[in-house]
Amino acid sequence: MAFGVLSRDTLYLVTFIDGADVLTVEGLDTPNKLSPEQEAFVGTVAFQCGYCTPGFVLMVGRLLDETPDPDDHQIKHYLSSNLCRFATYPQVIEPVKLAARKRKTGTPA
Ligand code: FES
Repeated sequence: MAFGVLSRDTLYLVTFIDGADVLTVEGLDTPNKLSPEQEAFVGTVAFQCGYCTPGFVLMVGRLLDETPDPDDHQIKHYLSSNLCRFATYPQVIEPVKLAARKRKTGTPA
C-alpha cells in the first residue's frame, strides 16, 4: 500500500489521486539548478537519515509561497505535520530562513 502527501496536514492513499498531477521533490529543480529550498537544505545539512527531507522541502516551498518571511513560530507550526523520526525540527528553521532570503535576493542560500 503506497501513501503520498498532497498538502499540509493531509495524507492520501495514492489510489485516491489516480489521474491527478503530483509534485515531488524531484520536480522542484530545473536542469543543473536546485530550487532555493533544495539548496538551503543541502547547505545546512538539516537532516539525519533524510527520509523526511523531501516532505520538508516541498512544505517549505508552499510555506514561503504563502508567507515569504515566516518567523520561528510560523515555521514550527507549518512544518509540524511532517513527521521526522530524528526530531530535526529545530534544525529545519535555518534552511527555511535561508530559502526565504534566497527567494528574495536571488543569491545562493
Ligand atoms: S531525518 Fe530521518 S526522519 Fe527526519
